[in-house]
Amino acid sequence: MKLLLAPMEGLADALMRELLCAVGGYDWAVSEFARVTGTALPDRFFRRVSPELERGALTATGTPVRLQLLGSDPGWMGENARRLARLGPAGIDLNFGCPAPTVNRHRGGAVLLDEPDLLYRIASEVRRQVPATIPVTAKMRLGVRDTGRTLECGHALADGGVGQLVVHARTKLDGYRPPAHWPWVGRLASSLPIPVVANGEVWCEADWRRCLAESGVQDVMLGRGAVADPFLARRIRSGESFHAGRDWPELATLIGEFWLRVQRKVAARHAPGRLKQWLNLLRRCYPQAEALFSAVRQVPDVARIGAVLAAADVRPLLSARNAA
Ligand SMILES: Cc1cc2nc3c(=O)[nH]c(=O)nc-3n(C[C@H](O)[C@H](O)[C@H](O)COP(=O)(O)O)c2cc1C
Repeated sequence: MKLLLAPMEGLADALMRELLCAVGGYDWAVSEFARVTGTALPDRFFRRVSPELERGALTATGTPVRLQLLGSDPGWMGENARRLARLGPAGIDLNFGCPAPTVNRHRGGAVLLDEPDLLYRIASEVRRQVPATIPVTAKMRLGVRDTGRTLECGHALADGGVGQLVVHARTKLDGYRPPAHWPWVGRLASSLPIPVVANGEVWCEADWRRCLAESGVQDVMLGRGAVADPFLARRIRSGESFHAGRDWPELATLIGEFWLRVQRKVAARHAPGRLKQWLNLLRRCYPQAEALFSAVRQVPDVARIGAVLAAADVRPLLSARNAA
């Protein structure tokens, strides 16, 4: 039984990956996508997407991180995968799921699911360019508009040599609208010779159990649910039940830590937005986060947000421990 942390551009950056993986429960994480166009990307670009490359492709607490590539040109995908492989990622993942119009307009992400031959050529070229010791995996949606070519796409990727397939069980047209069609994950799993991982709409333990039952697979990738409930993976493993009151003090230190580090990472004008983005997801699960969200919602500046957090006893204990 594996639990993976999903790639989420603009949400699960290296900072968020580090905090969530420190809580524990994840076998590995996948970075947000690195976009491949008609150029050879410099090493510093890959290191910016995944600073974990500087540390043996591990988070600070030792969770492996795979780096994701997005693009449509088999030659450039292969060449960039070869360059990336020299930096020692824990794996290279290929994105065939992104529904963003700007990406799709340039023939990247989920729109490629209309072109299974191209999926095959990308996968086989990347596999050919990357040493066998580095896993090459892929992540796909069910299709562009419908499930007419889902199995064909899965076979194209498996035939092209990907060693594992994560299936976000919705079409591009579905966007992020529930439900996720987990039985489709099972159909792919039973017709492909490679391991298949289920993804989509797992927000709590009950969803995880239903996902396993409906898909028949054992391995699940958690996306927004991992950010909304940082203890979800750990609880799935331990069997402990959800308890907002018990877990809040630990979550408060994570939020405090996030706030401290996000200010170091981004310009002051962007830090409040990042905090609010996280609180907005956390309030799905934690009433305490709802209260904090309401308190900071209209506050635009870093100093006043810091004061609100301190008044609520939200402090970066992890840093204090690291410094000691
Ligand atoms: C803000 C955001 C950014 C995302 N960025 C990526 C990405 O870079 N690569 C990718 O393969 N999927 C990306 N996804 C899709 C997620 O990995 C995942 O497949 C999707 O959110 C469904 O899982 P969930 O319902 O558990 O969130 C993103 C999703 C969100 C919400």
